[in-house]
Amino acid sequence: MKITFLGHASLQLEIAGKHIIVDPFITGNDLAKDIDIKVLKADYILITHAHQDHILDVEAIAKNTGAKIISNYEIVMHFGAKGIEGHPLNHGGSWQFDFGKLTYVNAVHTSSFPDGSYGGNPGGFVLETAERNIYIAGDTALTMDMKLIPMQCKIDLAILPIGDNFTMGIDSAIIASDFVECDKVLGVHYDTFGYIKIDHQEAKGKFSNKGKELILLEIGDSLKV
Ligand code: NI
Ligand code: MN
Repeated sequence: MKITFLGHASLQLEIAGKHIIVDPFITGNDLAKDIDIKVLKADYILITHAHQDHILDVEAIAKNTGAKIISNYEIVMHFGAKGIEGHPLNHGGSWQFDFGKLTYVNAVHTSSFPDGSYGGNPGGFVLETAERNIYIAGDTALTMDMKLIPMQCKIDLAILPIGDNFTMGIDSAIIASDFVECDKVLGVHYDTFGYIKIDHQEAKGKFSNKGKELILLEIGDSLKV
């Protein structure tokens, strides 16, 4: 599986020839100005929750690519009304897609659309594939529910928010990696806005002091897992 960081909490996954975009917020992110959404490939778009910094470019990418949306019921209905096809999930539910099995899991956060309308409850995704299993936490606090994940699936990479203020910060993310029993973490949701700027070396040092690895990718760079 190849994972490319598109800035903020936006990712592109390549699994078994399929392209999956996660939480696209690119055209609103100055730091990601070198990413051209018009050339991004996507068969699917995963959306963790309805906040603007996770859905801004969903419509444009879906219309360019014909990608299908996978999210909670309310978000899939919202984009369905705009003519975009989707697959609705709700918390605890799984579905076998052609790239792997996805489960929508709990997150502690909020999930209104930018206009204030209801975006369902926020979530994260556990993705099980023939190659590797990953946990995409979405925006969340540290929560005991994370302990349920390794009871059902061995996680090879945890993608966790680390920017603090709106989500967990570094210290909570270290505990989250204990809870999901995965010492390899890709950090997201940091540096984009003033409230969530972090010291990269300090963050990596805190993880390595616990025998864990924090990966922080440059925007546009990829990781193979
Ligand atoms: Ni959010
Ligand atoms: Mn966010």
